[in-house]
Amino acid sequence: MNAVSLFTSGGIGDLAFRNNNIRILLSNELLSDRHALFEYNFSNTFCITGDIWELCDEIIKKTKELLDGKKLDIIYATPPCQGMSKNGQGKLLNSIRAGKKPKLDLRNRLIIPTMKIINELKPEIVVFENVPEMQNTVIQDENGELINIIEYIQNKLPGTYIGKPEVVEFANYGVPQCRQRLITIFTSNSQLSEYFLSEKTFMPPRTHSKSPHNVTMNSWITVRDVIMHLPSLDAATKDTAISDIPFHRVPLLDEKKYFWVSSTPQEKGAFDNQCDVCGFNGNPTHSSKKDTNGINRTDHNNTLHCVKCGSILPRPWVCDEGSYRLMKGYTSAYRRMKWDEPATALTRNLSYACSDNKLHPEQNRVLSLYESFLLHTISDYVYHWERKDRKKVSDKTVREVIGESIPPRGLNVILNHLLNIYYGKIMGSKDMQLQIFI
Ligand SMILES: C[S@@+](CC[C@H](N)C(=O)[O-])C[C@H]1O[C@@H](n2cnc3c(N)ncnc32)[C@H](O)[C@@H]1O
Repeated sequence: MNAVSLFTSGGIGDLAFRNNNIRILLSNELLSDRHALFEYNFSNTFCITGDIWELCDEIIKKTKELLDGKKLDIIYATPPCQGMSKNGQGKLLNSIRAGKKPKLDLRNRLIIPTMKIINELKPEIVVFENVPEMQNTVIQDENGELINIIEYIQNKLPGTYIGKPEVVEFANYGVPQCRQRLITIFTSNSQLSEYFLSEKTFMPPRTHSKSPHNVTMNSWITVRDVIMHLPSLDAATKDTAISDIPFHRVPLLDEKKYFWVSSTPQEKGAFDNQCDVCGFNGNPTHSSKKDTNGINRTDHNNTLHCVKCGSILPRPWVCDEGSYRLMKGYTSAYRRMKWDEPATALTRNLSYACSDNKLHPEQNRVLSLYESFLLHTISDYVYHWERKDRKKVSDKTVREVIGESIPPRGLNVILNHLLNIYYGKIMGSKDMQLQIFI
């Protein structure tokens, strides 16, 4: 099978395509440092680097040339998710009705050139991957009209395509990380369409369950299962923050951050730390307060000084002109991951202790990049952190590429299921009944 990959970045999702013998014929990505990584790892793909708005016609022309009369099987499109609204379409439309100017993120309009490419190349299968908020995102179409992005996609596709967006929790497919994504699949293929009409989904049955008592499924894969065996690291000194394993190293923590982190017990966050001077452990812990967006914020009325001895507690603080106050921020900052759960979603800030749930379950440090490769399941595949132009790949690029991609193991399970339906190895329950009847 042949596919075109749009918004490719470093090609982490594309690893799942290659694993299913789907060839990435052509790829497009805006940023050359990310695309250079893809080019190194996918040396047989024709790469077009730059803005999809400007390169749309070139992408179409070159793909047709490469196909040389053959049909295109798949377009895999993963536009940036930073612009997808958490506020929801209802809130947005209400504010427009109230006469306010809508704040629409221009990045969401990248779906316009994407749909132009899809309409010209007419692949049998279209796979979009994005955050669940995509479902509630409103864009301004070519005529300036506001429209829900999924409706826009449906309107632009010929009537022969069917499918829908589906929220997928990747931990349910054996990924040691909780990561919810919206996978939107549309197809014009008859085998896949029949399956979808019968089952109302393209998603494979879950293989893993949160509950350890589920007898039909494996339990979620945990952080302990994946990184427990690795050499210990400690962010106090240069010597202890590094190991012989490439990428198994961590940034140093300055003295005060190390103090907060080293005082944080397993399963806890530094905002709840107790007194290390008198040992009193009854200081009030933060009551997590949700803000108007439903996000947990630190409770600023909470204490920074031990109620028993008055010493400053090892909780994240800032010092303003000699007076200390609790740091503002999310309650998930300076919080440890749990050994016996999948990792929380790995973001581009995975090397920052102040980012959410990024501390090692028990060691005094954040995760190493090597651990993130394992938890993001990149390590299942052959992938080199090398650029085609031989320039050095920065840690920042590595973190961004991981943070903006989905764990390929999860996508691999979904693609494998799709191909099994496509090749008639799996049928919908209605088809099965029909077969038995015949
Ligand atoms: C969510 S990431 C894609 C992740 C990728 N599929 C993977 O598996 O690693 C979205 C990508 O779209 C790229 N992008 C943003 N604006 C673009 C544009 N105008 N044209 C082409 N690519 C763009 C970003 O640079 C980013 O790398």
